Amino acid sequence: MPVRTASPTDLSATLTFNGRDITLPVVTGSEGELAIDIQKLRASTGLITLDPGFGNTGACRSAITFIDGEEGILRYRGYDIAELAARSTFLEVAWLLLYGDLPTRAELEGFSGAVTRHTMLHEDFRRFFEALPKDAHPMPVCAAAVAALSTFYQDATVAEDTAVRLVAKMPTIAAYSFKHSIGQPLIYPRNDLGYAANFLHMMFATPCDGYDVDPVVARALDLLLILHADHEQNCSTSTVRVVGSSRANLFAGISAGISALWGPLHGGANQQVIEMLERIEADGGDPQTFVDRAKDKKDNSRLMGFGHRVYKNYDPRATILKKACMDVLERQGQRSRQLDIAMRLEEIALKDDYFISHKLYPNVDFYSGIIYKALGIPVNMFTVMFAIGRLPGWIAQWLESRSDPDARIARPRQVYTGATRRAYVPVERRR
Ligand code: CMC
Repeated sequence: MPVRTASPTDLSATLTFNGRDITLPVVTGSEGELAIDIQKLRASTGLITLDPGFGNTGACRSAITFIDGEEGILRYRGYDIAELAARSTFLEVAWLLLYGDLPTRAELEGFSGAVTRHTMLHEDFRRFFEALPKDAHPMPVCAAAVAALSTFYQDATVAEDTAVRLVAKMPTIAAYSFKHSIGQPLIYPRNDLGYAANFLHMMFATPCDGYDVDPVVARALDLLLILHADHEQNCSTSTVRVVGSSRANLFAGISAGISALWGPLHGGANQQVIEMLERIEADGGDPQTFVDRAKDKKDNSRLMGFGHRVYKNYDPRATILKKACMDVLERQGQRSRQLDIAMRLEEIALKDDYFISHKLYPNVDFYSGIIYKALGIPVNMFTVMFAIGRLPGWIAQWLESRSDPDARIARPRQVYTGATRRAYVPVERRR
């Protein structure tokens, strides 16, 4: 689906600089968001804009995902996340993100079939896993493995084939990275299973014991993948776009995206949340101390799973996840001390002046770890699960950027603050 041009408006913005008025056009998106187009600002004034962390910079036009952070709205291609979560499957959502519309039955069957056919990894790939240390975190293993895929598919010129291969092989890579870390033989994919069920099989079956996939667990996993599938121009997605802007291949871009996602302020937060809840539990289960530490500017800790650059309201994904979390635990007849602590933590934070005034609410990572744990996913695989879910979004954004006629190589400017010109001093005269 082609990128729609942001429409011009009758509005304009005037910047007065050095006594001169500069008029800048204002464009609008399909949901009425307004943006000052500064592309010609430097040519006419010599000025650049300064915006660390790109908090107020629109780097592209995109027709994929819409977020209204004030209202807590998230839509993929116009469809509300709650409706997709309740009614669709992950592969259906992947198609929606990649191609712009919900698939027909025939399209969905064709896509599911193609994904199923490509789940296996080249046999030589086993040596890749064997070369890495056993205790390696699965995130860098996955990032390296995805980059290494480009060595097996050197002629991957058709982006669509690469997209299907990636969606198909990512769960296999993820499960292999886990099996390697626990010293078990790698388990081949099974073509008779759905996407999430096949992943669970590769994770938990062994050559000695089969593994009966519980459909409730597979559906819960599918839901988690749907909720993570895209989130417009976040850190990892922007990374994927930036890498793609140099015309590097899709494998390289996705590998970079996985690396960006690993950080604790981004996808890595889901692992940090569960570790935080474990620490609170070990310390006697009182969340108040943790909330107080997160507010203390002299203390480095933050309440993990809280806060978001864009949402200044409840993250709609967290609402869905909190409910799913309670459902999964109830169905499994489990009681989770960590869910109790998380809910207490949330209650305290949402009544606290600091969190209210900073507009800090639970984000997607706050409850996801508790569900992953209930589903049997090991803690060091939590962020990998996020990566499997985010993959179709990354690919869709990469494809969109490559088809955007206005796309240019990413090349931000800077305000230089280093030394001004100075003369070279020979080493014997340096002090
Ligand atoms: N706990 C305590 N204080 C916080 C938190 C938090 N979790 N998040 C933000 N703040 C404070 C921060 O100290 C700052 O306070 P002040 O203005 O008084 O100095 C203010 O809120 C703004 O914070 P910021 O770091 O400038 O905000 P940001 O938009 O750059 O960062 C964030 C967004 C998600 C990195 C941040 O909220 C955070 O570190 N949260 C914890 C990590 C986390 O849960 N990350 C997952 C994000 S959702 C999944 C994803 O898409 O990656």
